Amino acid sequence: MKKIALLGCGAIGTQIALAIDSGEIPATLTHVYDGSKSASESLVEKLKNKPIIVENSHLLSSHPVDIVVEAASQDAVKDVGLSVLQNKRDLMIMSVGALLDESIYDILYDACRDFKKTIYLPSGAIAGLDGIKSVRKELESLLITTTKHPRSLKGAKFFENSKIDLDKIDSVTKIFEGTAKEAVSLFPANINVAALLSLTGIGSEKTRVKIMADPDTDKNTHQIEAAGRFGKMTFTIENFPDPNNPKTSRLAILSAIETLRKYCTNEIQIGT
Ligand SMILES: NC(=O)c1ccc[n+]([C@@H]2O[C@H](COP(=O)([O-])OP(=O)(O)OC[C@H]3O[C@@H](n4cnc5c(N)ncnc54)[C@H](O)[C@@H]3O)[C@@H](O)[C@H]2O)c1
Repeated sequence: MKKIALLGCGAIGTQIALAIDSGEIPATLTHVYDGSKSASESLVEKLKNKPIIVENSHLLSSHPVDIVVEAASQDAVKDVGLSVLQNKRDLMIMSVGALLDESIYDILYDACRDFKKTIYLPSGAIAGLDGIKSVRKELESLLITTTKHPRSLKGAKFFENSKIDLDKIDSVTKIFEGTAKEAVSLFPANINVAALLSLTGIGSEKTRVKIMADPDTDKNTHQIEAAGRFGKMTFTIENFPDPNNPKTSRLAILSAIETLRKYCTNEIQIGT
């Protein structure tokens, strides 16, 4: 059985831990850490098989685990990513936006090769990355249109210099169109999805992002359009939010669980 350490005991971390505890992921959760002690304690309370709560995030990979699962924050990735690989553990990252910092990406990329370890990035809140990965070399355009309720866009840096009043939007309205590179700094809440697409496809300067506000929606919808010499692909993902953290889509949690289940299982692997 693989041994797993968990960094971050919030919405995603908790569901992963419960999936390990129930046997859905055939592994043992041995150690957990969260910057909030009460978050790690309340997670451990929910589990039949109790992991050890360590005193800091670096201690997770000093134990003989196979993989450290990050479900915390971009800062957590920047803080422990390299030491996890140096300690010869695999790493699964949910806060993928951290990798758009090119220096972090390069350090972790080199460390995977140097220490012969793998970083796993689940498809998160989107789908279709398997197809985009396959056609990467023949890809000529890649566009993601994200549609959310105006309240889900509130607080984004974009609105500091915009005349748009989100409270007055009464029909579907285009808020932004630009590159993924621009989008991730102006709409940090969209950062993981834009980062995943950029890293899979043609980079953050060629990937286009459109952000729409829809006052009548209760879903986060992502439409991905890819075109090139291979032909054309379109994916539409309509996500319901997780009840414990409305910023996180249910699909992001399920894709994290499936990535780990696959990591822990010897079986026929379906999909690219
Ligand atoms: N890849 C994707 O598609 C995708 C989708 C949703 C969320 N995410 C990302 O996954 C991460 C977790 O999401 P969530 O919904 O579980 O969030 P959450 O807020 O419910 O839980 C995060 C937990 O991590 C802890 N934490 C934060 N920074 C930490 C640090 N530096 N060290 C230790 N603990 C720390 C917090 O105390 C909290 O308990 C977030 O960064 C989020 O942006 C990715």
